Amino acid sequence: MSQVTEYSEKVLDHFTNPRNVGEIENAAGVGTVGNAKCGDIMRMYLDIDENQIVREAKFKTFGCGAAVATSSMATELVKGKTVQEALLVTNKAVMEALDGLPPVKVHCSLLAEEAIHAALWDYAEKNNITIEGLKPPVNDIDETEKFYKMETE
Ligand code: FES
Repeated sequence: MSQVTEYSEKVLDHFTNPRNVGEIENAAGVGTVGNAKCGDIMRMYLDIDENQIVREAKFKTFGCGAAVATSSMATELVKGKTVQEALLVTNKAVMEALDGLPPVKVHCSLLAEEAIHAALWDYAEKNNITIEGLKPPVNDIDETEKFYKMETE
C-alpha cells in the first residue's frame, strides 16, 4: 500500500473523477494504442474544426489508474489547442500537469502521448495534410517504451 502515497492529489482526482470519458461520433481523428506488456489499451477521439483546433477530446481507457489519470489530463490539455500545439502535449507535459507520477508508472503516461499522436495521424491522413513533426503511430507502446528508456538512460 505504500505506493499509493506516491500518487499526487491530482492523479487521484483524475483517476477517481476522470474528465472526458466516452466517444465522439464521427470524430475527426481516432487513435488506439496499447502496451502488450501490461495489456492496457487507450483510445483517443478528437473533434477538430476547420481551423485545425481541437474542439473536443474524449477517451476510453482499459488500463491502470495512472493510464486513466493521464488519459483524462491529456484530453484536458489538448482541448482548445491547434493540432500543431497538441503535438507538444507529451507524456512529460501530462505528468507535469498531474504533479508527477511514481517512477514505475511513468510508462503509463506514454500511452496518452501516443494515443494523441495516433488520433492526430488519423486526422491528418483523412484530410490529406501533414502535421510537422508527427511520426507514424505505434500500435504497441512497449516498443516506444524501450526506445524512450534508451533515450533517457
Ligand atoms: Fe499498463 Fe499502466 S500498467 S498503462
